[in-house]
Amino acid sequence: MIVLGIESSCDETAASVVEDGHAVRSSIVASQYELHAEYGGVVPEIASRAHEQHIIPVIDDALSEAGIERGDIDAIAVGHRPGLIGSLLVGLSAAKAMSWALGVPLIGVDHVHAHLWAGMLERAVPAFPALGLVISGGHTSIYSMRSETELKRLGATIDDAVGEAYDKVAAILGLGHPGGPRIDELGRAEGADDRAFDFPVSRLAKDSLDFSFSGLKTSVLYEVRGRPTPPAIKGKPPLPVPPVPELTADRTRDIAASFQRAVERALILKLERAIEQHGPFRSLIVGGGVSANTRLRSAFVGLSERQGMELVLPKMKYCIDNAAMIAGLGGVLLASGQRDDLSLSAVPTTGC
Ligand code: KG4
Ligand code: ZN
Repeated sequence: MIVLGIESSCDETAASVVEDGHAVRSSIVASQYELHAEYGGVVPEIASRAHEQHIIPVIDDALSEAGIERGDIDAIAVGHRPGLIGSLLVGLSAAKAMSWALGVPLIGVDHVHAHLWAGMLERAVPAFPALGLVISGGHTSIYSMRSETELKRLGATIDDAVGEAYDKVAAILGLGHPGGPRIDELGRAEGADDRAFDFPVSRLAKDSLDFSFSGLKTSVLYEVRGRPTPPAIKGKPPLPVPPVPELTADRTRDIAASFQRAVERALILKLERAIEQHGPFRSLIVGGGVSANTRLRSAFVGLSERQGMELVLPKMKYCIDNAAMIAGLGGVLLASGQRDDLSLSAVPTTGC
């Protein structure tokens, strides 16, 4: 079963050919980093225009790298939710046109669910039930998984996604966009002290499995730019505002390391709570751009060893957005009987 996957939900135009859900024959990703860099984030209108330019060449490249012709495709899978609506529409329109022209099934895939399939590319599925964690630029959610297709959401962020917190903290530190990889690198640089700053770990209610990262981000902001001046109280002298130390290279490195320690503690805390409340789980499946993070990857290794769970982490190239995860999951959904028609729509929110 040869599936062509198409992905255009945010700022990566991607196409991939995957056989039987696992075997990646090609995976092409055209990134738009430079186009958005000067704005410090993704500009939706620029993203959809760039997708329009790249989509056909990227699909052609995916087919030629896989060594197949259009006629060899058995089905087309497309990420149709969640994402930027204009961006999603480009990939979806291409997928519909090809499905109609070739007379092959169309399968709509949820991008967040696909991130949990990324670790299953080029390896077998692990034992279920599994605990799933998606940590990306747009999502931070924990799932209980009875199988690779049966997901129940146990918790999610109530404000920033973890990748968003990485990107915003990187912007505060003047490290450029996207910031995740830069903070990753700085946090493990020689001499980095991850206890130099005691940044907050949000626990929320005692049994909550939700996350919150906005307080952490604000603490970093205050550390770098200083706290806002307290309002003056009539008749009293103004409260002194402590001076902000210069943001030296060493201070930047230590803030990055301490921020990462707080992120790690927040994620591990909620995963342990989820195991207590809903376990035991036989496996831990992690996906999303932030699962490329060196420090977090070793924290997941530690947690799964302590808990006796099999760990499924995507290969680095399948952590960030790609179409192989879409084609892979699409193949599994097709085998389980899913078919969509040309009325399939682009949806900004996840269904998971
Ligand atoms: O999954 P993804 O490509 O897009 C979404 O679906 O949102 O994730 C992108 C996010 C960005 O926030 C980026 O900064 C983060 O993944 N990221 C990382 C690393 N590589 C990418 N965060 C931390 N450490 C990394 N090594
Ligand atoms: Zn993603």
